[in-house]
Amino acid sequence: MVYLSKIAVAAACLASSVIAHPGEHHDAHAVKREIAARNQLASAAKRSIDSCSNSLKHREVNARSVARRANIAREIREKRNIKSKPKKYRRDLATLEIYEAVDHNETALGYTTATPETTIFSANTSCILSPENTGGPYYVTGESIRKNVTEGQAGVPLYLEVQYLDINTCLPVQDVYVDIWNCNSTGTYSGVSVTGNEGGYDTTFLRGIQVTDSDGVASFETIFPGHYDGRATHTHLLSHDNVTVLANGTIQGGTVSHIGQIFYNEDLRSAVEETYPYNTNTQTIVSNADDTWSVVQAENDYDPFPEYLYLGDDITDGLLAWIQIGINVTADQTTSDDYSVAAVIQADGGHAVVSNSTFGGGNGTAPSNATATTS
Ligand SMILES: *[C@@H]1O[C@H](CO)[C@@H](O)[C@H](O)[C@H]1NC(C)=O
Ligand SMILES: *[C@@H]1O[C@H](CO)[C@@H](O)[C@H](O)[C@H]1NC(C)=O
Ligand SMILES: *[C@@H]1O[C@H](CO)[C@@H](O)[C@H](O)[C@H]1NC(C)=O
Ligand SMILES: *[C@@H]1O[C@H](CO)[C@@H](O)[C@H](O)[C@H]1NC(C)=O
Ligand SMILES: *[C@@H]1O[C@H](CO)[C@@H](O)[C@H](O)[C@H]1NC(C)=O
Ligand SMILES: *[C@@H]1O[C@H](CO)[C@@H](O)[C@H](O)[C@H]1NC(C)=O
Ligand SMILES: *[C@@H]1O[C@H](CO)[C@@H](O)[C@H](O)[C@H]1NC(C)=O
Ligand SMILES: *[C@@H]1O[C@H](CO)[C@@H](O)[C@H](O)[C@H]1NC(C)=O
Ligand SMILES: *[C@@H]1O[C@H](CO)[C@@H](O)[C@H](O)[C@H]1NC(C)=O
Ligand SMILES: *[C@@H]1O[C@H](CO)[C@@H](O)[C@H](O)[C@H]1NC(C)=O
Repeated sequence: MVYLSKIAVAAACLASSVIAHPGEHHDAHAVKREIAARNQLASAAKRSIDSCSNSLKHREVNARSVARRANIAREIREKRNIKSKPKKYRRDLATLEIYEAVDHNETALGYTTATPETTIFSANTSCILSPENTGGPYYVTGESIRKNVTEGQAGVPLYLEVQYLDINTCLPVQDVYVDIWNCNSTGTYSGVSVTGNEGGYDTTFLRGIQVTDSDGVASFETIFPGHYDGRATHTHLLSHDNVTVLANGTIQGGTVSHIGQIFYNEDLRSAVEETYPYNTNTQTIVSNADDTWSVVQAENDYDPFPEYLYLGDDITDGLLAWIQIGINVTADQTTSDDYSVAAVIQADGGHAVVSNSTFGGGNGTAPSNATATTS
């Protein structure tokens, strides 16, 4: 793939460059090529995963997933004492209508009491590959293994379940260490200190690592990401295979099988953005269609959005979201141009990874004694 971060940056990308994240300007032609390559990959992987629907094991995994998600929703609602009915919002009107019927009258439409969970918690529409995509300029290595990455950051609680499936075998991929990161509700990333992201090298909010279980599932407690100039709202994911777990709860070594981003559909994003403190963010909102990576295109036959459920009446009660990601376990992205490391967090704090990349990050080689710089 084209190394976007090494391509000369066109000057006039964004009007409000003061708060824009400086590393995310890309050459338009390069981005077009990258998108075409990504779509091709995604479509191929979608076909692989679709063909899995004939596999008994795959159907069993999906059945377990429905039950698991339903249980998670119940558990969170009980834990947080949410009494109002959860609501499933779907992009597809027909499905929404079916769900509304189920929600209000479970005997309607011939459904039995067992039907709703399947209707609500299946993941058919998201049973696709989240395309290989750039890790972006703000990947930080050395983060801790932890499920709850919020660190008290204000925002809409997001319980995110990601399920990794092997596109060659249709089976869940166990023991994948999943790195997650997104900006906070007002659009700032932790772990770096560059214009627009002055969170600081020593900060780790909204970053963490979880390992997949026998069903290929890793889950996180985070907040719905805010927005920033130039990019549609997104969450970064990077999966590590064959890592060594260190005594201090960090990981080392291994390969990177997948780098991707999760996007959120516009209705959901707008609903979140109306709440505090998202609504205090003055940066320009970029739609999925206007994103550099044009995540929604008419010809796309993959779906970059997770399924989601409102845990209560109000969006501020929190969201449960889930997505399946088809991966090629033999691939190693650390040698790919998509892989770029901005900083490393160590026992003595965070350090920038010095490099010549226009992303403000390195090429993945984290020097053990790197000193912090502002790039
Ligand atoms: C699920 O996806 C498969 C493969 O794309 C499709 O054949 C099937 O109709 C879908 N099922 C539902 C309920 O949408
Ligand atoms: C629920 O659906 C059943 C079957 O269609 C119908 O007989 C019943 O009146 C409905 N109940 C309500 C409260 O709508
Ligand atoms: C996650 O951690 C935050 C503190 O950072 C805490 O306030 C919150 O209750 C935790 N979430 C859950 C679900 O335990
Ligand atoms: C987001 O992070 C930045 C940097 O730490 C901080 O200044 C800002 O207050 C945070 N936003 C919220 C809503 O806490
Ligand atoms: C992980 O290690 C196993 C055993 O050494 C090996 O078979 C497998 O290919 C490795 N996976 C990757 C992605 O390198
Ligand atoms: C998986 O990755 C390997 C190694 O990079 C590559 O040779 C193979 O073609 C990939 N398979 C698919 C289906 O993309
Ligand atoms: C990263 O850059 C260093 C220094 O320029 C180089 O030695 C190393 O081979 C590069 N690594 C990759 C994966 O490109
Ligand atoms: C964890 O341990 C490794 C190995 O000793 C060390 O390099 C790293 O700095 C430690 N990380 C943290 C956050 O303490
Ligand atoms: C990075 O920049 C330094 C100094 O400008 C130069 O000597 C070095 O060759 C560059 N390295 C790469 C990999 O471009
Ligand atoms: C570590 O620091 C020493 C002294 O400043 C320097 O000579 C060396 O090149 C550094 N090593 C790395 C990997 O950056």
